[in-house]
Amino acid sequence: MSERLVIGMLGCGTVGSGVLKLLMDKQALFAERAQVEIEVRKVLVRDPSRVREEWVPRELLTTDPDEIFEDPEIQIVVEVMGGVNPAKDYLMMALQSGKHVVTANKALLAQQGDDLFDAANESGAALHFEAAVAGGIPIISALKRGLVSNTLRSVYGIINGTTNYILSAMTEEGRGFEEVLAEAQAKGYAESDPTDDVEGFDAAYKLAILSSLIFNKRIDVKQIHRVGIQSVAAQDIAYAKQFGYTIKLLAIAKRTRNGLEARVNPTMIPADHPLASVNGVYNALLVQGDAVGDLMFYGRGAGQMPTASAIVSDILNIAVEIDSPPNLLMSCQHSENVAQLSAPDHVINRYYLRIQTEDKSGVLGHIGHLLGKEDISIHTLIQTKHRPGEAEIVLITHPVSEQKLRQAVAELRKLETTRRIDSIIRVEDFGQ
Ligand code: NAP
Ligand code: HSE
Repeated sequence: MSERLVIGMLGCGTVGSGVLKLLMDKQALFAERAQVEIEVRKVLVRDPSRVREEWVPRELLTTDPDEIFEDPEIQIVVEVMGGVNPAKDYLMMALQSGKHVVTANKALLAQQGDDLFDAANESGAALHFEAAVAGGIPIISALKRGLVSNTLRSVYGIINGTTNYILSAMTEEGRGFEEVLAEAQAKGYAESDPTDDVEGFDAAYKLAILSSLIFNKRIDVKQIHRVGIQSVAAQDIAYAKQFGYTIKLLAIAKRTRNGLEARVNPTMIPADHPLASVNGVYNALLVQGDAVGDLMFYGRGAGQMPTASAIVSDILNIAVEIDSPPNLLMSCQHSENVAQLSAPDHVINRYYLRIQTEDKSGVLGHIGHLLGKEDISIHTLIQTKHRPGEAEIVLITHPVSEQKLRQAVAELRKLETTRRIDSIIRVEDFGQ
């Protein structure tokens, strides 16, 4: 005999309507797997008259949040409306009154998650968020449950589909950033305001969530070093290919000798690394644990049904545990423990530099001397000529701290023969 579980939803856009579809299509399967019959009682929207997917039952739509929060039979609130406010107020209300919460809202969790987790811990309600990172890939439950026996060393992720689509198209077709972005917007792959994706905010929010699980500490998202892809030029992609690398927007959290590191930036990775072949809107994560070694996760990081898959799994996981004490593995256990992330200055990396100089004798010698003064040794260097009187010098350094690199770049800019430093991109060799 199945139990009945009543849920209320906040939002019925791309993801919300996917959740409704999955819950309707798979009722029988869920009754069998989780012994639960799920009833969606109400769905909060802004504008009930909007045209929606044909399967959305219009009689469920409401603009009155009280119909959800004041209904004592609603046990789970599913938040798929996005934004920080009023989503946060709604979820605080739900958690404080003991309603369980499932959310896909990485922006809210990364920026204001502490208050939500504290409220959940206090009331004993569950707060699940599988869909907030990498859409359909079950990375949160893998980190929380499947890998609980490991000390996690690092995660390297391609966790923003829009930027991966843009970089993949630039790599495959040799086109420039602006042109590919415009095409991605026209095809609906990129938002009309692409700032959050292109400038790395979306990936930083997701990395804040991931790194809190990798480091077992709370993370201040403002400490995550973030660089977007807007400055990656077609020439950088072409040189990367020539050197045997591919450029990806990587989100990286790792334990290093210098402390805990978390950053999002365009990164040159070896072209034969498995992450280099993750193209288009796909996401992938490489997780390194001390017992398990390396694990790769790959799949759709966004979209209606992949994201609905994650949300409905969270709902069913809560359903099967609803009468048990709070699940310690799935709750936040480190409220007093905030990570101190390494300042970017102390992070050690190899770097790619593309410099425009006057085409004069002695220029290379000056550059080598300046880098040498900062103890930076050059791994690879090529010089080409595109315009009369101007040379393009492209080099990759051996590992160096960001602080030393920055000092050397400041000195390079001061050289009379330097016209511009067009690009500085980190190179990642995955601890090789
Ligand atoms: P969306 O298509 O814009 O849908 C948002 C829904 O929330 C709409 O139904 C909207 O109502 C409703 N809403 C927004 N503000 C509201 C308010 N103040 N009061 C009442 N209703 C409100 O967004 P989405 O793409 O489904 O994304 C939802 C969440 O999932 C976001 O947090 C997003 O980051 C996350 N997410 C999305 C994806 C994806 O592939 N789209 C993947 C992973 C995670 P109306 O319909 O009346 O406008
Ligand atoms: N804008 C996000 C992306 C959607 O491009 O990956 C899913 O979070």
